[in-house]
Amino acid sequence: MNVFEERTRRCRDRLAEVGADAAVLFPSTNLFYASGFREEPMERHLFLFVPRDGDPVFVAPEMYDEQIRDASWVEDLRLWADGEDPGGLVADLADEMDLRGGRLLVDDTMWALFTQDLRETLPDATFGLASEVFDDLRVRKDEAELDALREAGALADEVSVAARELGEDAVGMTETELADEIDRLLSARGGEGLSFETVVGSGPNGAKPHHRHGDREIERGDPVVLDFGASVGGYPGDQTRTVVFAGDPPEGYEEVHETVLEAQRAAVQAVEPGVPAAEIDRAAREVIESAGYGEQFTHRTGHGVGLDVHEHPYIVEGNETELEPGMVFSVEPGVYLPGEFGVRIEDLVVVTDEGFERLNDSPRAWEPL
Ligand code: GLY
Ligand code: MN
Ligand code: MN
Repeated sequence: MNVFEERTRRCRDRLAEVGADAAVLFPSTNLFYASGFREEPMERHLFLFVPRDGDPVFVAPEMYDEQIRDASWVEDLRLWADGEDPGGLVADLADEMDLRGGRLLVDDTMWALFTQDLRETLPDATFGLASEVFDDLRVRKDEAELDALREAGALADEVSVAARELGEDAVGMTETELADEIDRLLSARGGEGLSFETVVGSGPNGAKPHHRHGDREIERGDPVVLDFGASVGGYPGDQTRTVVFAGDPPEGYEEVHETVLEAQRAAVQAVEPGVPAAEIDRAAREVIESAGYGEQFTHRTGHGVGLDVHEHPYIVEGNETELEPGMVFSVEPGVYLPGEFGVRIEDLVVVTDEGFERLNDSPRAWEPL
């Protein structure tokens, strides 16, 4: 049984546990997780029905016939041709699987266009979200997933060092030029695609946590937030360092950087099985609050990372989920001073039987390498 088939088997067990009759997946990371077939969401009907009892079935455009058979262990494909209405195939499959009055869990990211369509085709069915099943399956990573995440972490580390070695040469580059160089380094060293658009937040732009990059030129003494990653084997890296390429940073910067670094260290050290996710957030927040910057730490401490770069478990106040071995998440506290600069330091960690393993280990100090 290949890994995808085994995951589908566990999906069926979970469907039974939560009292659902089938999951209906759409091109998404859930679809890949269960079938091995990866595609972007598009306007054509493409579903994987995973019934609680019985084998999964694709409903797909016929142009995907060979592609799905090459990528997936799922053998049953119901194909429709451009110009045909796939609604009949869906209705027939629902009859065959006895789903007309069932509880169906649709992919969380399925477009409303298709959920609406399913509702019209199956008016007596009730609907929930596939996350009811998949969040619990995906939150603990297996060894193959951890290996991919380790490689993605090592790639981000290497590129972090290579980018920082630009030193004086980065002064005068625009944020976009530096982001392009980081993207080139990620790809040249084996990255399959960016985890998200690379963040180069120089000077005051660093105070906007999700600033991407723009035409501001990096100046001597600028703190620069570098937040990037690329995927390996489908699993994304995500790492942040806040650095100064050359010159002396602004007043107050060293203290803020030391505070964020200490918060990050405290939060990572708190990671072990059984600890609620919220406690990791509190460990970081306490350090930042006692240094007087609590109001400037405007986001949660982290997020799970797997096939999606943001997934469960979220490291946030109120999340009492207890950490378990195999969970992977970011620890990324930050302090943002509008109009001045921002500092964020981010590593991915895995919960282990004994505590934690960091997936990133490039230098965290801000000084030029
Ligand atoms: N760049 C997005 C994040 O670190 O979560
Ligand atoms: Mn990040
Ligand atoms: Mn992150």
